[in-house]
Amino acid sequence: MATSPLRAEELERELEQLLGRDVFPPPQEFRARALVRDDTPWREAERDPVGWWERQARELLEWSEPWQRALDDSNPPFYRWFVGGRLNACYNALDRHVAAGRGDRVAFHWRGEEGEERAVTYAELLHDAERLATVLRERGIAPGDVVGIYLPMIPEVAVAMLACARIGAVHNVVFGGFSVEALRDRLHFSNAKALICADGARRKGRKVAVKAGVDRILDDLPALRTVICVRHTGEAAPMRPDRDLWWHEALRAAGPTPAEPFDAEHPLFVLYTSGSTAKPKGVLHTTGGYLTGVAWTPRHVFDLRDDDIYWCTADVGWVTGHSYIVYGPLLAGATSVMYEGAPDYPDKDVWWEICARYGVTIFYTAPTAIRTCMKWGPEYPLRHDLSALRLLGSVGEPINPKAWLWYWRVIGGGRCPIVDTWWQTETGHILIAPLPGVTPLKPGSATRPLPGIDAAVVDDAGREVEPGQQGYLVLRRPWPGMLRTLYKDPERFVETYFSRFGRETYFVGDAARRDEEGYFWVVGRVDDVVNVSGHRLSTAEVESAIVAHPKVAEAAVIGQADERTGQAICAFVTVEAGVEPDERLADEIRAGVAERIGKLARPARIIWANDLPKTRSGKIMRRLLRDIAEGRALGDVTTLRDPAVIEQLEAKVRELRAAERS
Ligand code: WTA
Repeated sequence: MATSPLRAEELERELEQLLGRDVFPPPQEFRARALVRDDTPWREAERDPVGWWERQARELLEWSEPWQRALDDSNPPFYRWFVGGRLNACYNALDRHVAAGRGDRVAFHWRGEEGEERAVTYAELLHDAERLATVLRERGIAPGDVVGIYLPMIPEVAVAMLACARIGAVHNVVFGGFSVEALRDRLHFSNAKALICADGARRKGRKVAVKAGVDRILDDLPALRTVICVRHTGEAAPMRPDRDLWWHEALRAAGPTPAEPFDAEHPLFVLYTSGSTAKPKGVLHTTGGYLTGVAWTPRHVFDLRDDDIYWCTADVGWVTGHSYIVYGPLLAGATSVMYEGAPDYPDKDVWWEICARYGVTIFYTAPTAIRTCMKWGPEYPLRHDLSALRLLGSVGEPINPKAWLWYWRVIGGGRCPIVDTWWQTETGHILIAPLPGVTPLKPGSATRPLPGIDAAVVDDAGREVEPGQQGYLVLRRPWPGMLRTLYKDPERFVETYFSRFGRETYFVGDAARRDEEGYFWVVGRVDDVVNVSGHRLSTAEVESAIVAHPKVAEAAVIGQADERTGQAICAFVTVEAGVEPDERLADEIRAGVAERIGKLARPARIIWANDLPKTRSGKIMRRLLRDIAEGRALGDVTTLRDPAVIEQLEAKVRELRAAERS
């Protein structure tokens, strides 16, 4: 149902009309060519879920040794998939495409912040991965050792991950937006033996030194004996000869290392993500099952094929980047765009300029980005020819119908299905999403579980709730790409995900509803995890960064609904006796959070409190803080120790609101 070219003045009216529409069937033109056009995958997977995954594993990956048993479920929740099978992740992502004569295919159209372009082929990625593997090996990195990666969005990040996989090392990518202190914690938890970083990074025309910052934390990491530094910005990077190597020099001197097959359950990576406590969780994924999931989903959910130009705007530091910038597209032999910069530099149309320049056909981003683009206005996308686009994706948080419709109409021209994909760091790959040629779409719903996935919404007792009722989202059947454990912390793994409803039901941590037609509507987290612009942050982690300030006595952090970022961090702070809270202190607190975690965790709002609302047993009542922050009527206050606390806070919030308005 392609519509006529858009005139900005008509848009508002048209969107208003679309808001009344609940269901969007797959666009005719898309459906006619879709890889999947009926419900066969669901039916096949229901008949024999394990056999169905086996078929995907066999068809989409190359194994050097077949498995003896597809699923070992004798000791839940410690499931093992493709037991006895052997394969190499890097081989599957690179070597086999090159061996099949596809080495000259572009893997990444890389675009630098200042408009630089690099087309990197599969053969080039392989050339570098083979050599970096050698360098790592020569520095004593053995299978199972952890290698930290702290890089900007440059092709070297994919090479670094794959070189690790090539020799069975476990990569631990840390988002470049995290501070070096947050990097230090993660590398300490994972006991990393080497780190791959860059001399510097760029952000909207500014350069910042990275290697020099990293040097400050290395003394705290005695196990880390090798740093490999990519020359990127030319920032001064002090090098210590016994420890530090330049990437380009080391690769030039190294010969290739062949890919070695590893057990299907050999660890592939650990990725730290936020949980209910201040200590991040090291989500561990293994090789065979994870690769099966990330190889399967792009074809079916994105309808990805050889002539597509695919672009996922995430950062590799998050799971979306791992699964849908690096492993998924490379396993498929796809051509992707990789962009280093921000969406508004040099101007707010740079994403759309890139789409037009490379003829992007599949575009995958986050609702927060769409809402930001809405705010900037349709004139930016309208400057460019987006007619190559044929499918749009969304990930990271619930997408509100208004943003969905804008995405559909302004970016997709009314002809592109939107796949709203629900999943988590822990699930490894997309689990709830439409198959775009088949599933009618409902704006705001990730639609239905993918074939082979058994999702449900349950109450406190684990009983499925009635359609339309809110409850806890759970997954009742193991799937190959699921996390295997929390790194070095199996007890926390069981306790976090498999204690609430037993050892065979995965507790997601999201609240959801399921409608009469079996569509899932994810509402948000039920734990103390906030989702700011699709970034998962722990309120406890932010609180501990705030109370590290000597003038702060106590802090409680909540996620407050925010029109643009989904949730925003709001901190209620009490100060030490004799301290007069002011803007300067607020700035110092924000700077402290940036230093300990990263700029993304800085509180949008700081509310000075005389005291925090607590239960008689001394627990902070965050539920009340959320109500106060959002100006709602307060829920049950019977357990509150001192009601006067509330009045002061409500007055503060009113004051703040008034100040913000004026
Ligand atoms: C949320 C990101 C609604 C959810 C891939 C989940 C979503 C958390 C969606 C995982 C979606 C992700 N609709 N909510 N389509 N996708 N979420 O680990 O709360 O960074 O539990 O993985 O994001 O965040 P994570």
